[in-house]
Amino acid sequence: MPLKSINPTQTAAWEKLKEHFIEIQDTTMKSLFLSDSNRKRDLTLEFEALRLDYSKNRVSGETLDLLLELAEECDVKDGIEQYFKGDKINATENRAVLHTALRNSSDDAIEVEGENVLPEVHDTLQKIENFSEKVISGEFTGYTGKAITDVVNIGIGGSDLGPNMVVEALHYYSNHLKTHFISNIDGDHVYEVIQNLNRETTLFVIVSKTFTTQETLTNATTVKNWFLEDAQESDIQHNFVAVSTNMEMVSSFGIASDNVFTMWDWVGGRYSLWSAVGLSISLSIGFKNFRQFLDGAYAMDQHFRETSFEKNIPVVLALLSIWYNNFFGSESEVVIPYTQYLEKLPPFLQQLSMESNGKSVDRDGNPVDYQTGNIIWGNTGTNVQHAFMQLVHQGTKLIPVDFIGFEEPLHGNVMHHEKLMANFFAQAEALYAGKTADEVHLDMKTKGQEADIARLLPFKVFAGNKPSNAFLFNKLDPRNLGILIAIYEHKTFVQGLIWNIYSFDQFGVELGKELANKMLI
Ligand code: F6P
Repeated sequence: MPLKSINPTQTAAWEKLKEHFIEIQDTTMKSLFLSDSNRKRDLTLEFEALRLDYSKNRVSGETLDLLLELAEECDVKDGIEQYFKGDKINATENRAVLHTALRNSSDDAIEVEGENVLPEVHDTLQKIENFSEKVISGEFTGYTGKAITDVVNIGIGGSDLGPNMVVEALHYYSNHLKTHFISNIDGDHVYEVIQNLNRETTLFVIVSKTFTTQETLTNATTVKNWFLEDAQESDIQHNFVAVSTNMEMVSSFGIASDNVFTMWDWVGGRYSLWSAVGLSISLSIGFKNFRQFLDGAYAMDQHFRETSFEKNIPVVLALLSIWYNNFFGSESEVVIPYTQYLEKLPPFLQQLSMESNGKSVDRDGNPVDYQTGNIIWGNTGTNVQHAFMQLVHQGTKLIPVDFIGFEEPLHGNVMHHEKLMANFFAQAEALYAGKTADEVHLDMKTKGQEADIARLLPFKVFAGNKPSNAFLFNKLDPRNLGILIAIYEHKTFVQGLIWNIYSFDQFGVELGKELANKMLI
């Protein structure tokens, strides 16, 4: 059955939140901490090796209760059940949304059009495992019989951002294979990637759910022509595989059916890295690690489906985001992983969130009269402290922050990691506490700068009271990364549920494609 259409602004909870906002908008987080010695404990959620501290948010117990009331009135629970059961909640495309089935290792029956899809999912995973092992071991060879040394993923959007991000994030767990990504139609980019590759030992993975995307087909054709400068058409089967739903187009491109990994139309591109779209991940880190990555997401799925909302990590994060977006008027939130391995997480989350919730028509087809999808951006700490944190600390905009950190370094450099994590904690503290005029005055006096106090003090004050969430894992490993990504997938879904929009289509990307094609004629 379709998702219910409930205008959030028509709910009683929304009205209460509007009144409550007027009361609390100037309340400082400092006062909230002073009035509740258990605040940090009570506003920290734990899941396996993750501790999520959301105590540095502009919320009181009453705020959280009203936000939870909003989730209830918008029947989020019903939406979650439909999401997992495979109801066609992607109503505009008449599809189920079952990226959760891709990591479901149980023998549940999850039906699409009356057919249990899990056996086919598990078969595809088995094919991914078998193929990965053959390539990694050298059993699978290129057209001249040599072992594969390089893998090139050719795809864009969800056929690039996810695998690209995960391959980099889990590089510590990678094997000898070198993995490259071609996405942009920019021919210079394509050339830079292939110029030093050896045709004989390179495996090309063409990833395109539709196999009609202009960039990917153009890039794949260019790469194939480069390959055929030395090889024959019959050699393509040894160095090219494809991931798609469109068998006909794959075949006409010249890829043998044995070399095609299926995917399904009930998996959205930006949610597809758990499928064969993630083949380059499995090749890079081995299927065992890929399975642990899936298992982490599956564990979070169960948390999301079964946990009461006040302890439900994706639900709480979605409600906090809506609180800032729709009541404080914050138009963006910034994601700052304190590990260089997650440099590509913000771009991945941009597609996940903004392509899902960048909508302005509600589930009845009417224009919304409230804010929906917010802007996601970010980069790694500590680099951001030397880039955009000036604005976040002392600018005029309220920008909630997600800090993501890991207690342990992977290569064991404790001295560096202690400094990295000191900055992780310090940034959240600085945003929260700020620096008062009195503190600046004392600081400048202590430093012998009395002569400049009157002139410079205003510029050195930090308002503080700026919110942040702190995700702290024990270490960056496949399972924890699977948990983290699933959290953001489900947060995105809950936001869309409450905003009464459809999060799983993306008609907004069609016009640009049409106009580009017209310009080429
Ligand atoms: O950005 C539009 C989009 O359709 C994304 O949703 C998708 O991930 C990407 O283009 C690539 O699509 P395909 O995998 O079909 O090439």
